[in-house]
Amino acid sequence: MKTRQLQSFFWTLLLVTAGAAADSSQWPAQSSPFHADAAEEARLDRILSGMSLRDKVGQVIMGEIQYVSPRDVRHYRLGAVLNGGGSFPGKDRHASAADWLALADAYHEASIDRNDGRPAIPVVWGTDAVHGANNVFGATLFPHNIGLGATANPELLALIGAATAREVAATGIYWNFAPTLAVPRNDRWGRTYEGYSEHPDLVAELGAALIEGMQGAVGRDFMAPGRVLATAKHFLGDGGTTGGVDQGNTEVGEEELVRVHAAGYRAALASGAQTVMVSFSSWNGQKMHANPYLLKEVLKGRMGFDGFLVGDWDGHSQVPGCKASSCPEAFNAGVDMFMAPQHWKGLHRNLLRQVRMGEITGARLDDAVRRILRVKLRAGLLDAPRPSSRPLAPERDGDAASRSDWIGRPRHRALARRAVRESLVLLKNEGSVLPIAPQSTVLVAGAAAANIPSQLGGWSMTWQGDDIENADFPGATSILDGVRAALEGAGGTVEYRQFSEVRTGSAASLPDVALLVYGERPYAEYEGDVETLEFSPRDKSHLEAARRLQAAGIRVVSVLLTGRPLAVPDEIEASGAFVVAWLPGSEGAGVADVLIAGAEGAARYDFSGRLPFSWPQIPDQAVNNVGDESYRPAFPLGFGLRYEAPVPVDPAAPTE
Ligand code: GLC
Repeated sequence: MKTRQLQSFFWTLLLVTAGAAADSSQWPAQSSPFHADAAEEARLDRILSGMSLRDKVGQVIMGEIQYVSPRDVRHYRLGAVLNGGGSFPGKDRHASAADWLALADAYHEASIDRNDGRPAIPVVWGTDAVHGANNVFGATLFPHNIGLGATANPELLALIGAATAREVAATGIYWNFAPTLAVPRNDRWGRTYEGYSEHPDLVAELGAALIEGMQGAVGRDFMAPGRVLATAKHFLGDGGTTGGVDQGNTEVGEEELVRVHAAGYRAALASGAQTVMVSFSSWNGQKMHANPYLLKEVLKGRMGFDGFLVGDWDGHSQVPGCKASSCPEAFNAGVDMFMAPQHWKGLHRNLLRQVRMGEITGARLDDAVRRILRVKLRAGLLDAPRPSSRPLAPERDGDAASRSDWIGRPRHRALARRAVRESLVLLKNEGSVLPIAPQSTVLVAGAAAANIPSQLGGWSMTWQGDDIENADFPGATSILDGVRAALEGAGGTVEYRQFSEVRTGSAASLPDVALLVYGERPYAEYEGDVETLEFSPRDKSHLEAARRLQAAGIRVVSVLLTGRPLAVPDEIEASGAFVVAWLPGSEGAGVADVLIAGAEGAARYDFSGRLPFSWPQIPDQAVNNVGDESYRPAFPLGFGLRYEAPVPVDPAAPTE
């Protein structure tokens, strides 16, 4: 037995002897919503029998577009490609829909170009469109999942899933690495904002709705024109690591793993999710990428998952004894497709050898290939023409004449703006500072008010959401834009200042109200891990400005842009009204929709957002989840104030 196999044997032995005897009967049994189709399976048999070993090895490998040419796809018969965050056709962040489509066509044509009588299997392109088609110039960017969690509105999530799918499909891509179904339990985690909530039931409800919106419903319009494949990620327990360390170790018992961290997956599979991405993290010390119990016995067995498992970005290389170009352990543990952005060629070579030497059995390889082919068949990709010739959506959407019309189209932006409104959570409104009468003189302070990247967060044009500017998001509106539009149309005036410029000089120049906008700098993944939940420990200029204004008797409204709950007792104290806007995306004007009243002074839209995460009192309260014994939040899960007179649901809100 090879060293590596010996290692995994001892790991399992350790787990069993340590009393952590895994027991899959704790997992609710479920079956695939897709009925086994004898004709489909017979077709898969025929395809498999026609494939060479090289074809099969290529099919289980995904490379990144900066490292894989269409020529490589043809030569190695690769099954998939991806573009990572900040990766674009021609490395051009302003690439048009036509540029994306042209590259998608090139990969497609290359993948089916063969004349040796063996089956031609189209490549599938996967991307991270985690809050809209966020890599695409001019796309609609929706609020990140934490803000959508505050809406607690599955109907809205379904509409967002459908709109996101159309903007992704317009670029010729048919696989989205979303939604994240993490249940973040330690808010120090840099990916907290990719989670809907600390509560598993809300994660399950919203994740399932997003998936069905994105893919269509099984048995009805699954993968109809304009739909794309979803990915349930990251299996399993990514949000439960000790210390909130990204890619860390989730040290929980199996009962908690089932009840908390797997809730989203049960719902996702029932909604037809056909791909699941494996987590970088570990469960009780065992890397998820090499956990045959959870990947095979639980997910593919008890949970009836008949799609395919894709590894995360070289996640297999973190398995003891593995490297990016070689990891039979991960494949044998149940990973069906390797995400090997750069090292795919070495992996191809090593996989061939490992199958020939018997480290990977032919049966295991056939099982993985069959799963990938089954998903491509169910998604209609095996018979689809090249992306630019695929129908995009039913005729009723006739107003989108060309694919590029779909990118950032007005009805999607209106939907995103509605999502912004519904995501806002009001924590304080002393003396009804809000809503602001539109005839007021308003001082808007803080760079974040005018800086669209501040409201986007990570996964926005670039991976970290850094090194971007307003001009990268045509069609987007800042929070300041929204306030200006709401006031200047009704006789009010807006003055914009940096915090350092806020003066409270002569009474004549004092504004009626000051709107301060501040928040976290954008981040993604481990770059966003923090030690404490103190906001802006090294720069308190926002707080000094608030206190100066308050001391001068000016009413202060604070708007916080954040990817996680933060300890901000001083900021709340220094504000008459305090609003959490999360990471609202491209439609910042949605903030003013709620904060600025109509001409006659009544609120145009009421607050409806509720905290999807418990709010901390102190910076060290990073583990602060409803149900905890020592549960003492500043504001509990589900908290959210309203204006006095609830405003009727907006009849003009977009219905799709
Ligand atoms: C990243 C993330 C994952 C993403 C993948 C492809 O490391 O963990 O969520 O889908 O790589 O970009």
